Amino acid sequence: MFSVRPILLLYVGCSLSFPLTSINKRDVPDFVRQYAPVAYLCSTEIYFPSDIGAQIAHTHPEDASGATITPPAALTLSNLDSLNAFADSGTNVYLTSNEGIQALPSWFRGTRPQSDGSTPSTVASAIVTVSKPNDIVDAFYFYFYAYNQGNWVLGSPALEFGDHVGDWEHTMVRFVSGAPTAVYYSQHSGGEAFTYATTEKGPDGVRPVVYVANGTHANYATVGPHDHTIPNLNTEAGPLTDHTDKGPFWDPLVSAYLYSYDNSTGVFAAYNGVDPTAWLGFAGRWGDNELPDSTPGQIDVFGEKKYVAGPTGPRDKSLGRRAVCPDGDSCDVKSSLAP
Ligand SMILES: *[C@@H]1O[C@H](CO)[C@@H](O)[C@H](O)[C@H]1NC(C)=O
Ligand SMILES: *[C@@H]1O[C@H](CO)[C@@H](O)[C@H](O)[C@H]1NC(C)=O
Repeated sequence: MFSVRPILLLYVGCSLSFPLTSINKRDVPDFVRQYAPVAYLCSTEIYFPSDIGAQIAHTHPEDASGATITPPAALTLSNLDSLNAFADSGTNVYLTSNEGIQALPSWFRGTRPQSDGSTPSTVASAIVTVSKPNDIVDAFYFYFYAYNQGNWVLGSPALEFGDHVGDWEHTMVRFVSGAPTAVYYSQHSGGEAFTYATTEKGPDGVRPVVYVANGTHANYATVGPHDHTIPNLNTEAGPLTDHTDKGPFWDPLVSAYLYSYDNSTGVFAAYNGVDPTAWLGFAGRWGDNELPDSTPGQIDVFGEKKYVAGPTGPRDKSLGRRAVCPDGDSCDVKSSLAP
């Protein structure tokens, strides 16, 4: 991805005004835009889509022990993978909020979309296409939020589980010969998939709709309450429930970075030759580490905690999956929206 094609070097010599990036510029396939999902956030949401680069500006890297890591240069989306030189090849690096998770700084709240669905000055989405055998293209639509508020057990704010800084969610549309066939919705550690024909469509009658759960931003195909359980949590504590409704409209396509990913080489390439790519290689976490049990305010019930570690980024979301659902996840592609 950092190599420069020989032909480009020739141009450097004879015409500095030649736009170098145009050499590598390609168009994303039309169908990737045409069938990009549209989102409805929950009407009571307060943690909105957030700028991916701003997360770096508001955080500093720490290792698992909480020691600050000093990278060779100030971090940006164009060098974030420099952190892979630290803490177990980057896997134990945490982009840690400068204020601390419990302070709930205002930047956790992201950008409320305008009525046309846009998020001015905020790039909260990255689209990654992956070409696969049998004329398949999987388009992953990633959504970023600065903060994930976990759900309340038994409706009690005193029993809130799974708060974390940084939140990556995705939908994936599988295209076969350019036609959309199935849509995957990420939800907590798993997800659900439906045939494209089954999904609700947005205002244009073509783009699938994703309902984003209040606080957790889990992706659902329908409105309403959605129960989900935390593995190992004592069921007597009651189910955790995600809420979705047709609140603010968000069109993640309006400001999104666009990439292709080569599953055989592991290389991401920007369609416009300009969007930063290094951040996609970062192996660490996009938020604070979980708080120790000794921290006032931390709750630990059977290992389920109120403040948990932030997630890893897009490269960890089974981009090379063969089925519609991530490898190791045996969800079916359903042809009914009924639960
Ligand atoms: C959504 O989250 C906000 C912020 O915590 C909360 O005030 C509101 O009650 C939640 N809505 C639902 C439907 O749970
Ligand atoms: C993508 O690469 C991984 C790792 O090499 C491999 O296991 C997987 O089968 C590949 N996916 C496809 C669709 O070829």
